[in-house]
Amino acid sequence: MQVVANAIAERISRISESSTMKVAADATKLRSEGVDVVDFGAGEPDFPTPDNIKQAAVRAIEQNFTKYTPAGGTAELKKAVCERHAQDFGTSYSPAECLITVGGKHVIFNLVQALVNPGDEVVIPVPYWVTYKDVVNFAGGKCVFVDTDEQKGFTLSAAMIEPYLTPRTKMVIINSPSNPSGAVMDRGEFEKIYKLTSERGIYLMTDECYCKFLYDSEPFSIASMPGAKESVLVAGSLSKTYAMTGWRIGFGLVPKAIVDAMNKLQSHSTSNPTSISQKASVEALRGPQESVGVMLAEYRKRRDFVVQRLRAIPGVTCQEPRGAFYAYPNFGVLIGKPGIKDTLQLSERLLAESHVAVVPGEAFGTGSHVRISYATSMHELERGLDRIHQFVVKNS
Ligand SMILES: Cc1ncc(COP(=O)(O)O)c(C=O)c1O
Repeated sequence: MQVVANAIAERISRISESSTMKVAADATKLRSEGVDVVDFGAGEPDFPTPDNIKQAAVRAIEQNFTKYTPAGGTAELKKAVCERHAQDFGTSYSPAECLITVGGKHVIFNLVQALVNPGDEVVIPVPYWVTYKDVVNFAGGKCVFVDTDEQKGFTLSAAMIEPYLTPRTKMVIINSPSNPSGAVMDRGEFEKIYKLTSERGIYLMTDECYCKFLYDSEPFSIASMPGAKESVLVAGSLSKTYAMTGWRIGFGLVPKAIVDAMNKLQSHSTSNPTSISQKASVEALRGPQESVGVMLAEYRKRRDFVVQRLRAIPGVTCQEPRGAFYAYPNFGVLIGKPGIKDTLQLSERLLAESHVAVVPGEAFGTGSHVRISYATSMHELERGLDRIHQFVVKNS
């Protein structure tokens, strides 16, 4: 049977292809054609998964831990997640308040599907991680965007959020450190936002994907506030913290009724996250944690280098990222030049002409930035930034 144009369900038209994944695909295609591409698009650590974690997976296979597990994850891993969160942040979650998912993206998807009704408003600070918008749209919710000020490092305050809260607001999503800007929430402001939302019965989703990668502040979880367990929804991931992007393990720490709702959804969609990855994740959470600090130290060196090199490009400005592994420079100097009407065209031309992959700012809700991932070697950073510098000079 031929697939006719209107055969695709309406809900699919509400979402768009993930632009970060598209950039990765375009760069891979060019590379397969033999082009020497420098890839600043990938949002994943360039470090290998630590050995102790890999060995745990090997043992899981050898011991035939290769069958279905409960859809929402093993009791052992849920316990390990709760214990690590308690040790790192002083929270007190029980395994009944934990769900294991197929990566951090999956927990965010399931949470939004489980909670957002058509017409519900979800407050999302800009720039935002691409997926929030699409996941909310998919659920029929309404995204309410809150702009941040680039001059203040894209930081967010409670006073900026408050005017956007209405009786229809179901959820506020905070991602600190932020992908793409690297902005980190001030602890006092985060606490004020928690107060604002909890008083009004609004859920506060905290995406802790990069929570360990902070350059000048201590890791902190808003879920450690007294009483926070009722309205704070923790979306966690092992992907970046332990360089485990391909293993696909994330988790939610949320009220039990929401775990049950998400579990129901998961039991009819993915079923359990991979059994082998779950065993590896127990080791990641319970085993030595040194690798995280080693990666952070390396990211810090790269951040300093990238920011300094970007600021040396005429007309380009760059706020200093305080966490995660992305820089979000402003290329407004090029927007409006011939053949560069927006950052999508800028990114396309950078890839086609200079063979550097970056993600256009439009994907994150801003008009004159691109995202540069510095989760790549110093050698690649040098090569890529040389090329970007030359491109800007040539096209200014
Ligand atoms: C802000 C943020 N949250 C969540 C995720 C989800 O990560 P994963 O699904 O790979 O665990 C990502 C991945 O890029 C991210 O950048």
